[in-house]
Order: sequence, then C-alpha cells, then structure tokens
Amino acid sequence: MIEKIKSVLKQVEEFVIDSAKSNEDFRLKFLVKKGLVNELVDDFRTIDNSLKKEVGKELNTLKERARLKWEEAKEKFENKDGNQDKSKDLSLPVNSISFGGKHPISAVMKEISDIFSRIGFSTEEGPDIEDDYHNFSALNFAENHPARDMQDTFFVEDDFAIRTHTSSVQIRVLERENPPVRVICPGRVYRNEDVSARSNCFFHQIEGLYVDKNVSFADLKQTLYFFVREFFGKDLPVRFRASYFPFTEPSAEMDVFLGTETEEDYRLTKGTGWLEILGCGMVDVNVLKNVGIDTEQYSGFAFGLGVDRIAMLKYGIKDIRTMFYNDVRFLSQFTPF
Ligand code: DAH
Repeated sequence: MIEKIKSVLKQVEEFVIDSAKSNEDFRLKFLVKKGLVNELVDDFRTIDNSLKKEVGKELNTLKERARLKWEEAKEKFENKDGNQDKSKDLSLPVNSISFGGKHPISAVMKEISDIFSRIGFSTEEGPDIEDDYHNFSALNFAENHPARDMQDTFFVEDDFAIRTHTSSVQIRVLERENPPVRVICPGRVYRNEDVSARSNCFFHQIEGLYVDKNVSFADLKQTLYFFVREFFGKDLPVRFRASYFPFTEPSAEMDVFLGTETEEDYRLTKGTGWLEILGCGMVDVNVLKNVGIDTEQYSGFAFGLGVDRIAMLKYGIKDIRTMFYNDVRFLSQFTPF
C-alpha cells in the first residue's frame, strides 16, 4: 500500500501543470471521487488496523500535496470566479466604448424645432415620395406653369416625385387639421442639381406654418426675429427681400447679416455680409381654399428654412458633401464626448 501511495505521489509531483486546462486534467486524474487519490482512500479502509497509522500518514501527505498543487495552479491560471486564463492582464484599462453622436444636420434640426416649440409650434412630418398634387398643384403651381421649372424634380413615376420641398407637408397638415394650426415640418428634399461644395442633389428644410384668425406679416416677422435671436444668440441684423413663391403672397426671402470680418463670413456671404437663410410669406388664399379653409376667417404665414447651410455656418463646414460621406473621422467630431 505504501508503495502504491508513493507511486501516486510521484505521479502527482511529475504532472506538469502549465495552464488552466492541464490543471483541470490534474484534478480529474487525482482529485475527483473516482480519481487516484480517492481510490487509495477506499483501499485504506480495507487494510489492517495495525497498519493504518503509518499508511494514513503517507496517504495524508499525498492528499495534502495533490490538493495544494491543484490550488496553487488554480490561483495561478484561473481567475477567481471563473476559468479565465490569467495570461489576460485584468488590470489593463477596458476598451473605451464609443458613443454615437448626432449628425450635424440632425443636431441643427433638433435645435431649430426646440426653438419653435417654445412658441407653440408642434412638429409634423410628411412622406419623402410625394404626388404631384401635394408637391405642386395644391401649392398653387398651375399645371404647365413655368413655376414648376423653378425646381428640378426627380420623378419616380408619372404622378409621383421625391419631394422638392417640405412645403408639401403644409398641405398634408391642413388636410387633417383645422385652424389654428401651428407646425414646423423638418425633412429631406431632393432636386436634380449639379453637386458641388455649395449645393447637393438632396438637402434639408424646416417648413413653418401658422394659420389662424388675424395672422399678419407682422406676426411672421416677429416669429422669425425670435428665431434668429434664439438660434444665433444675438440680434443679428435681418432683412427681407421681396420674392416670389406660388404658394405665398406676398413672398419674401430673409437674410441675416454675418458681416465680412472673417474670411469664412466673407466666403459664405460672397462678400456681401448677408446670408440668405429662408423663404417666407403669407399663405396664398388659393392654397387655403385648396384645403377647404375659409379665407374670410383665416389667414396664415409660412416659411421654409434651409438647414444644411445653417449647419455649415454653425460648424464651419466648408463642403456640403462631407456631411454625407459617412466618414467617421468627420462624424466623430460631433459626438458629445
Ligand atoms: N419651398 C420653398 C423652397 O423650397 C421655400 C419656401 C418659401 C417655403 C416660402 C415656404 C415659403 O413655406 O413660405 O424653396
């Protein structure tokens, strides 16, 4: 029996443990219930009592040695609560988690929506694919009227196009809701234009619409002054230039004065100091009639803001196309962390 114990002890000593895996092999060979050590413990029960003292001592040494060897290796190769390999350095800092951020266009849209929501405008959206009626006819673009040429349209099918402006959402909202209506409609619009640093075949607009009793051009101006003050953080000089849109009468375009002090402002304003940011006007009576609104009682104003140019201005982006390459080196500049 002693010989047998010594032989197992020898095997214990010679067993090479160099990984968590081999330590497990060691345990399976020696320490489990049916392992070599317990086999000897079973044998021990059957031997003569006179031998038990001497053999017991040897057996205890073996048991102790095997358990210790296994525990030491476990400490060395295994993580305390699992069986991870200690060759991984647990003190290393974790890989930083990268957070997504808002695209500059989304950030500006959200900021503008928030400003208007503070004066009672809710947000509505409309479809990107529009029918001719909502994109043109209902907005007072006469059939075959040259005004339709103002915008180079991407047609999808005969009567459908991808919208050329968010003004189409004005019609969708007015078909659904009765005045008073006070909404802004952010969205993407598409035009068949040459792509360059300054213009793209798709861009973003925020449409504004207010229809109620006694709405005047003065209300429109005050609303837009409020927007400029809130968005640019100061009372930038603003000017209105008379313009033409089929769906508003009178119509205007609004410029803000950035000045020409910095090279950037000079470039953006083509040396004039003025930057055009939106078109606006009083909603044409024909538009209101098209959606069944009593024009004796109600009037309204509308405006359409170009988001991309404002985002470029805000973040100093020089080429509109860079916003849509999805290059993370560009996009990660706008992450909040
Ligand atoms: N839809 C016009 C465009 O795409 C912008 C616009 C002008 C919108 C005047 C309006 C408005 O609501 O009143 O250029």
